Amino acid sequence: MKPAHLSKRLETILKYVDCRVLADIGTDHGYIPAAACGLGRARFVIACDLSPGSLKKAGEYIRERRLSDRIETRLGYGFDPIAPGEADMAVISGMGGALIRDIIQKSPDTVKNLTRLILGPQRDLPALRQRLNEMGIIIKDEEMILDKKRFYNILICEPGTPEPMTPEGRMFGQALINKSDPVLRLFLLKLLERNARILEHTETLKEETRLAAMALAQKGWF
Ligand SMILES: C[S@@+](CC[C@H](N)C(=O)[O-])C[C@H]1O[C@@H](n2cnc3c(N)ncnc32)[C@H](O)[C@@H]1O
Repeated sequence: MKPAHLSKRLETILKYVDCRVLADIGTDHGYIPAAACGLGRARFVIACDLSPGSLKKAGEYIRERRLSDRIETRLGYGFDPIAPGEADMAVISGMGGALIRDIIQKSPDTVKNLTRLILGPQRDLPALRQRLNEMGIIIKDEEMILDKKRFYNILICEPGTPEPMTPEGRMFGQALINKSDPVLRLFLLKLLERNARILEHTETLKEETRLAAMALAQKGWF
């Protein structure tokens, strides 16, 4: 059955799933596990979430899709509900980069046993890239997508010995730079445009502040 509710972001994540047992950390609605099974990208999925409400929602969706024999829901923080070696790939997406970093740091044994880790951080990307590098996790590839006017990064990682990072690789993703990614180009152009507007505004504010201080001084109103 073709999975429903697949955004461009989730479709991109699914492209990189190809395993026996997938761990979906922070599953929420359960779309990733259902699609991974429906598309034949995982034989079995362990769908984890910290929130009982999310797991209830995921459980209902999984039953609706008649996938209860191929997806198991488990409650808990990050990889806590999963034993090392139980899953061969994992997805952690739809949350902040700092939280993703904390989740990975908390379960080094489970992470080291994965063949691939697919990450979809929604902010704090430079800090996450840096920490992955320090933890011995290679960012093998990275995709940037534009979905409903929002940019999303998908990081395809695996345990190993990473190369040292360049400042621009840490900030924007070395793999995206290396492959001259057209979405990264668009992102950078928009970033320059936005920052130029902010800098212009900052100059106006500086001048306004200077003139206000001068007027106060001239009047002796300090
Ligand atoms: C916005 S949803 C993302 C759903 C899906 N992964 C996606 O990419 O669309 C974030 C989910 O992560 C769960 N979550 C947040 N912190 C978590 C943690 N430390 N461990 C497990 N799940 C967590 C939340 O309860 C929520 O269901």
